[in-house]
Amino acid sequence: MSKPKVLVTRRWPQAVEEKMAQIFDLSLNTSDTPLTEAEFTSALGQYDAILPTVTDRLPAAVFESTAPRTRILANYGVGFAHIDTAAAKDRGIAVTNTPDVLSECTADIAMTLMLMVARRAGEGERELRDGRWTGWRPTHMIGTKVSGATLGIIGFGRIGQAMAQRAHFGFGMKIIVQNRSAVPAEVLARYNAVQVPTIEDLLPQCNFVSLHCPGGVANRHLINSRRLDLMRPGAFLINTARGEVVDEHALAQALWFGTIGGAGLDVFEREPKIPRELLDSDNLVLLPHLGSATRETREAMGFRVLENLSDFFEGRQPRDRVA
Ligand code: DGY
Repeated sequence: MSKPKVLVTRRWPQAVEEKMAQIFDLSLNTSDTPLTEAEFTSALGQYDAILPTVTDRLPAAVFESTAPRTRILANYGVGFAHIDTAAAKDRGIAVTNTPDVLSECTADIAMTLMLMVARRAGEGERELRDGRWTGWRPTHMIGTKVSGATLGIIGFGRIGQAMAQRAHFGFGMKIIVQNRSAVPAEVLARYNAVQVPTIEDLLPQCNFVSLHCPGGVANRHLINSRRLDLMRPGAFLINTARGEVVDEHALAQALWFGTIGGAGLDVFEREPKIPRELLDSDNLVLLPHLGSATRETREAMGFRVLENLSDFFEGRQPRDRVA
């Protein structure tokens, strides 16, 4: 039997590319640049499987003009709002993602941002490297204490829970949760967490708010100027979820006017473009979408895609099927 023809849309860790090449008739995108919509449409007619990732855009239009050969889109990443899953399903194309394996590293980056912004680590490093540091003094670069503070977590799936684990057990933080569905009592009890019904209930109670909900149209600008106004003065917003969840202009205004104390962002609405008004904010820590960027996790994500593909082509239900 001939091997399935598989297209990988970006470069992946070498160990995974090598293993995949043994199993599939593999095409790699050696230029490592995102495919255009026209290239996707053409690829859907040529490959049995396409392995896209967060930098790819697969709107309904991509699926319209071809009788697809592709039977599965095995996404490299947990978020899949960049794929119109309903349109894929209509054309009989399965979609999978890579949950679990990146939860710890993404929560680590959320903690990193929280600590950096509260303790002014970015500002401090800039001052030191620029030769502006004049030495220790009792009033120098005073930040906000993280240990023992209250953390609000919006979206309490795997990554939200990994965040609660770190914040509660590592930093003695009190955890308040907002989630679309009711979180089982035993899960809340694990972190001594309290679930509140709405974001409006959560925001005024927290020193830190960390976003761990999905992106996509439903959550676009979930954090807008009205909700930023509900945060405590001096509170911090952390986003490692998806850029579109935060209205970036409203955030820049809140930072400028001191409505909130600061923010830490790993994701942006128009990556890799960052609005000038964010770049100019000193009370903001910016990272280039590093949530899952460790060797261990990026390999685990690739091997998870491989597992999904093998299951699919060997007639089993892939464990991470989302459409
Ligand atoms: C994802 O998996 O959705 C991340 O944003 C990339 O790690």
